[in-house]
Amino acid sequence: MEFRFNINKIFKNNISRVGNSLLPAAFIAPDRRSALDATAYVAEIINSIGQASAAAQGLNQAVTSSDRLRNCDEQVVYLMTEDNGKNGLVVGLLKIGRKSLYVFDKFGDTKHVLAPCVLDFYIHETRQRAGLGKVLFEYMLEYENLLPEQLAIDRPSEKLLSFLKKHYALTEKIPQMNNFVIYDGFFTAQDSQR
Ligand code: ACO
Repeated sequence: MEFRFNINKIFKNNISRVGNSLLPAAFIAPDRRSALDATAYVAEIINSIGQASAAAQGLNQAVTSSDRLRNCDEQVVYLMTEDNGKNGLVVGLLKIGRKSLYVFDKFGDTKHVLAPCVLDFYIHETRQRAGLGKVLFEYMLEYENLLPEQLAIDRPSEKLLSFLKKHYALTEKIPQMNNFVIYDGFFTAQDSQR
Protein backbone atom coordinates (compact mmCIF):
# COMPACT_ATOMS: atom_id res chain seq x y z
CA MET A 1 0.00 0.00 0.00
CA GLU A 2 1.59 3.21 -1.20
CA PHE A 3 0.92 6.80 -0.13
CA ARG A 4 1.39 10.21 -1.75
CA PHE A 5 3.96 11.10 0.96
CA ASN A 6 7.20 9.45 2.02
CA ILE A 7 6.44 7.13 4.94
CA ASN A 8 10.14 6.35 5.53
CA LYS A 9 10.48 9.72 7.25
CA ILE A 10 7.92 8.66 9.86
CA PHE A 11 8.70 4.96 10.31
CA LYS A 12 12.34 4.36 11.16
CA ASN A 13 11.89 0.61 11.71
CA ASN A 14 9.97 -1.93 9.67
CA ILE A 15 7.62 -2.57 12.61
CA SER A 16 6.31 0.41 14.56
CA ARG A 17 4.06 0.51 17.60
CA VAL A 18 1.55 3.35 17.50
CA GLY A 19 -0.70 4.36 20.40
CA ASN A 20 -3.16 7.18 20.92
CA SER A 21 -0.59 9.90 20.11
CA LEU A 22 -0.66 8.50 16.54
CA LEU A 23 3.13 8.79 16.45
CA PRO A 24 5.55 5.84 16.37
CA ALA A 25 7.70 5.65 19.52
CA ALA A 26 10.90 6.06 17.45
CA PHE A 27 9.68 9.24 15.75
CA ILE A 28 11.35 12.39 17.00
CA ALA A 29 9.77 15.56 15.63
CA PRO A 30 12.15 18.51 15.17
CA ASP A 31 9.27 20.91 15.82
CA ARG A 32 5.55 21.10 16.53
CA ARG A 33 4.64 21.56 12.87
CA SER A 34 6.45 18.35 11.88
CA ALA A 35 4.73 16.46 14.71
CA LEU A 36 1.32 17.66 13.53
CA ASP A 37 2.09 16.76 9.91
CA ALA A 38 3.31 13.29 10.94
CA THR A 39 0.17 12.74 13.04
CA ALA A 40 -2.02 13.58 10.04
CA TYR A 41 -0.02 11.21 7.82
CA VAL A 42 -0.20 8.37 10.34
CA ALA A 43 -3.97 8.95 10.67
CA GLU A 44 -4.31 8.62 6.89
CA ILE A 45 -2.22 5.43 6.90
CA ILE A 46 -4.21 3.86 9.72
CA ASN A 47 -7.53 4.74 8.08
CA SER A 48 -6.42 3.29 4.72
CA ILE A 49 -5.02 0.05 6.06
CA GLY A 50 -7.99 -0.26 8.44
CA GLN A 51 -10.31 -0.04 5.40
CA ALA A 52 -8.23 -2.59 3.51
CA SER A 53 -8.41 -4.97 6.46
CA ALA A 54 -12.19 -4.55 6.67
CA ALA A 55 -12.52 -5.23 2.92
CA ALA A 56 -10.35 -8.34 3.26
CA GLN A 57 -12.63 -9.60 6.03
CA GLY A 58 -15.88 -8.63 4.27
CA LEU A 59 -16.77 -6.10 6.99
CA ASN A 60 -18.87 -3.01 6.24
CA GLN A 61 -17.12 -0.95 8.88
CA ALA A 62 -13.43 -0.78 9.69
CA VAL A 63 -12.37 -2.13 13.08
CA THR A 64 -9.31 0.13 12.99
CA SER A 65 -9.48 3.88 12.45
CA SER A 66 -7.36 6.80 13.60
CA ASP A 67 -10.28 8.26 15.58
CA ARG A 68 -10.82 5.05 17.52
CA LEU A 69 -7.12 4.74 18.26
CA ARG A 70 -6.81 8.37 19.33
CA ASN A 71 -9.71 8.01 21.74
CA CYS A 72 -8.62 4.79 23.40
CA ASP A 73 -5.78 4.40 25.91
CA GLU A 74 -6.13 0.63 25.89
CA GLN A 75 -5.40 -0.09 22.22
CA VAL A 76 -2.25 -0.04 20.15
CA VAL A 77 -1.53 -0.69 16.51
CA TYR A 78 1.58 -2.34 15.14
CA LEU A 79 2.30 -1.26 11.56
CA MET A 80 4.64 -3.14 9.26
CA THR A 81 6.33 -1.12 6.53
CA GLU A 82 8.84 -1.73 3.73
CA ASP A 83 11.36 0.65 2.25
CA ASN A 84 10.99 0.19 -1.53
CA GLY A 85 13.44 2.95 -2.43
CA LYS A 86 10.53 5.30 -3.19
CA ASN A 87 7.79 6.49 -0.80
CA GLY A 88 7.79 3.19 1.11
CA LEU A 89 4.99 0.67 1.54
CA VAL A 90 2.66 -0.20 4.40
CA VAL A 91 2.22 -3.97 4.34
CA GLY A 92 0.64 -4.99 7.64
CA LEU A 93 -1.47 -4.04 10.62
CA LEU A 94 -2.04 -5.70 13.99
CA LYS A 95 -4.28 -4.05 16.56
CA ILE A 96 -4.41 -5.30 20.12
CA GLY A 97 -5.96 -4.01 23.32
CA ARG A 98 -7.14 -5.04 26.75
CA LYS A 99 -10.85 -5.67 27.17
CA SER A 100 -13.01 -6.51 30.10
CA LEU A 101 -14.71 -9.78 29.14
CA TYR A 102 -17.02 -12.34 30.66
CA VAL A 103 -15.86 -15.72 29.38
CA PHE A 104 -16.60 -19.35 30.11
CA ASP A 105 -13.88 -21.62 31.40
CA LYS A 106 -13.82 -25.20 30.19
CA PHE A 107 -16.22 -26.27 32.94
CA GLY A 108 -18.79 -23.72 31.73
CA ASP A 109 -18.26 -21.35 34.68
CA THR A 110 -18.28 -17.63 33.91
CA LYS A 111 -15.12 -15.65 34.65
CA HIS A 112 -14.53 -11.94 34.45
CA VAL A 113 -11.14 -11.15 32.93
CA LEU A 114 -9.23 -8.15 31.67
CA ALA A 115 -7.67 -9.88 28.71
CA PRO A 116 -5.28 -8.83 25.97
CA CYS A 117 -7.21 -9.19 22.72
CA VAL A 118 -6.34 -9.41 19.04
CA LEU A 119 -8.76 -6.94 17.50
CA ASP A 120 -7.57 -6.58 13.90
CA PHE A 121 -4.85 -8.28 11.86
CA TYR A 122 -4.09 -7.79 8.19
CA ILE A 123 -1.23 -8.41 5.80
CA HIS A 124 -1.53 -6.87 2.34
CA GLU A 125 -2.82 -9.31 -0.30
CA THR A 126 0.47 -9.13 -2.22
CA ARG A 127 2.41 -10.28 0.86
CA GLN A 128 0.18 -12.91 2.48
CA ARG A 129 1.46 -16.42 3.15
CA ALA A 130 5.06 -15.29 3.02
CA GLY A 131 5.69 -15.33 6.77
CA LEU A 132 5.18 -11.59 7.42
CA GLY A 133 2.14 -12.18 9.61
CA LYS A 134 4.25 -14.41 11.85
CA VAL A 135 7.01 -11.80 12.06
CA LEU A 136 4.51 -9.09 13.04
CA PHE A 137 2.69 -11.31 15.55
CA GLU A 138 5.96 -12.45 17.16
CA TYR A 139 7.13 -8.85 17.50
CA MET A 140 3.91 -7.96 19.28
CA LEU A 141 4.12 -10.99 21.63
CA GLU A 142 7.66 -10.10 22.59
CA TYR A 143 7.01 -6.39 23.04
CA GLU A 144 3.88 -6.97 25.14
CA ASN A 145 5.42 -9.94 26.96
CA LEU A 146 2.49 -12.18 26.07
CA LEU A 147 1.98 -15.84 25.27
CA PRO A 148 -0.27 -16.68 22.29
CA GLU A 149 -2.73 -18.63 24.45
CA GLN A 150 -3.20 -15.61 26.69
CA LEU A 151 -4.95 -13.73 23.91
CA ALA A 152 -8.68 -13.52 23.24
CA ILE A 153 -9.31 -13.23 19.51
CA ASP A 154 -12.17 -11.03 18.34
CA ARG A 155 -14.18 -12.71 15.55
CA PRO A 156 -11.24 -14.52 13.95
CA SER A 157 -11.40 -15.26 10.24
CA GLU A 158 -10.70 -18.75 8.91
CA LYS A 159 -7.29 -17.48 7.79
CA LEU A 160 -6.45 -16.30 11.30
CA LEU A 161 -7.66 -19.56 12.86
CA SER A 162 -5.42 -21.42 10.43
CA PHE A 163 -2.52 -19.05 11.20
CA LEU A 164 -2.85 -19.66 14.97
CA LYS A 165 -3.03 -23.40 14.44
CA LYS A 166 0.00 -23.48 12.16
CA HIS A 167 2.35 -21.20 14.09
CA TYR A 168 1.22 -21.69 17.70
CA ALA A 169 -0.56 -25.07 17.65
CA LEU A 170 -3.69 -23.36 18.99
CA THR A 171 -6.55 -25.74 18.22
CA GLU A 172 -8.54 -26.45 21.39
CA LYS A 173 -11.10 -23.66 21.68
CA ILE A 174 -13.07 -23.10 24.87
CA PRO A 175 -16.66 -22.47 23.65
CA GLN A 176 -17.96 -18.95 24.30
CA MET A 177 -21.27 -17.13 23.90
CA ASN A 178 -19.61 -13.92 22.60
CA ASN A 179 -17.55 -13.21 19.47
CA PHE A 180 -14.24 -13.95 21.14
CA VAL A 181 -12.26 -17.13 20.69
CA ILE A 182 -10.08 -18.30 23.54
CA TYR A 183 -7.96 -21.42 23.62
CA ASP A 184 -7.06 -24.07 26.13
CA GLY A 185 -4.35 -22.56 28.33
CA PHE A 186 -6.00 -19.12 28.41
CA PHE A 187 -6.79 -19.23 32.13
CA THR A 188 -3.48 -20.81 33.13
CA ALA A 189 -1.66 -18.10 31.18
CA GLN A 190 -3.81 -15.33 32.79
CA ASP A 191 -3.08 -16.73 36.26
CA SER A 192 0.66 -16.98 35.65
CA GLN A 193 0.75 -13.26 34.77
CA ARG A 194 -0.83 -12.17 38.06
N1 ACO B 1 -6.20 -19.36 3.54
C1 ACO B 1 -6.03 -20.13 4.63
N2 ACO B 1 -5.05 -19.90 5.56
C2 ACO B 1 -4.27 -18.82 5.39
C3 ACO B 1 -4.40 -17.97 4.27
C4 ACO B 1 -5.43 -18.28 3.33
N3 ACO B 1 -5.61 -17.55 2.23
N4 ACO B 1 -3.49 -16.98 4.38
C5 ACO B 1 -2.78 -17.23 5.50
N5 ACO B 1 -3.24 -18.34 6.12
C6 ACO B 1 -2.72 -18.96 7.35
C7 ACO B 1 -2.26 -20.38 7.00
O1 ACO B 1 -2.17 -21.13 8.19
C8 ACO B 1 -0.87 -20.11 6.46
O2 ACO B 1 -0.05 -21.26 6.43
P1 ACO B 1 0.04 -22.11 5.03
O3 ACO B 1 0.39 -21.10 3.98
O4 ACO B 1 1.11 -23.11 5.33
O5 ACO B 1 -1.33 -22.69 4.84
C9 ACO B 1 -0.37 -19.11 7.45
O6 ACO B 1 -1.52 -18.28 7.78
C10 ACO B 1 0.73 -18.27 6.85
O7 ACO B 1 1.38 -17.56 7.86
P2 ACO B 1 1.99 -16.12 7.52
O8 ACO B 1 2.54 -16.10 6.14
O9 ACO B 1 2.88 -15.74 8.65
O10 ACO B 1 0.65 -15.25 7.60
P3 ACO B 1 0.20 -14.02 6.69
O11 ACO B 1 1.35 -13.11 6.43
O12 ACO B 1 -0.58 -14.50 5.52
O13 ACO B 1 -0.81 -13.27 7.71
C11 ACO B 1 -3.18 -13.05 8.08
C12 ACO B 1 -1.93 -13.94 8.24
C13 ACO B 1 -2.98 -11.73 8.85
C14 ACO B 1 -4.39 -13.80 8.67
C15 ACO B 1 -3.38 -12.74 6.57
O14 ACO B 1 -3.58 -13.94 5.87
C16 ACO B 1 -4.52 -11.80 6.25
O15 ACO B 1 -4.35 -10.59 6.28
N6 ACO B 1 -5.70 -12.33 5.94
C17 ACO B 1 -6.84 -11.52 5.51
C18 ACO B 1 -7.41 -10.71 6.66
C19 ACO B 1 -7.81 -11.58 7.83
O16 ACO B 1 -8.46 -12.60 7.70
N7 ACO B 1 -7.39 -11.12 9.05
C20 ACO B 1 -7.78 -11.71 10.31
C21 ACO B 1 -9.12 -11.15 10.68
S1 ACO B 1 -9.73 -11.61 12.28
C22 ACO B 1 -8.99 -10.54 13.40
O17 ACO B 1 -8.24 -9.72 13.00
C23 ACO B 1 -9.25 -10.65 14.88
